[in-house]
Amino acid sequence: MQITLVILKPSAIQRGILGEVISRFEKKGIQIVGLKMVHLTDKILAEHYAHLFNKPFYGRIKDSMQASPVVVMALKGVDVVHVVRKLTGVTNGRDAEPGTIRGDYSMSVQENIVHASDSPETAAVELKRFFSDSEIFDYASHLTPYFYANDER
Ligand code: TYD
Repeated sequence: MQITLVILKPSAIQRGILGEVISRFEKKGIQIVGLKMVHLTDKILAEHYAHLFNKPFYGRIKDSMQASPVVVMALKGVDVVHVVRKLTGVTNGRDAEPGTIRGDYSMSVQENIVHASDSPETAAVELKRFFSDSEIFDYASHLTPYFYANDER
């Protein structure tokens, strides 16, 4: 099984849709193995969005991501990095497919509700950025036989 990182952005918190968004992952059959609220410091954010740090719009992304705390989650499942990116939808909420989180909740590129790791390698780095080992829990999910066949997990 894989683990991936999701950030519920200030847009999700301010609009009061944390529960709805988290519920989508739960209903899909993805196990929540870490969850907490944090404030993103300048340093963490610069690391997290290093690929955008030199863009002219980095300042507005920073303001947006620091407008309130965020909720970070560690999500576990088979191929979960890929599955969560599919559930999330493309970056621009106006282009994202209906049925995806961004497609259903966002009209914006920046205010697009969630961040999700884009590869297993990125997920490993991003999980370490936000969670210590003791904050990610290894516990039995008793519904696993109803979410996967024996040879899928
Ligand atoms: P990026 O890592 O390209 O997308 P994704 O979140 O889909 O993996 O961009 C990170 C965030 O930066 C994105 O969620 C919203 C913001 N952003 C903009 O505001 N404008 C832009 O042109 C881009 C590329 C990103």
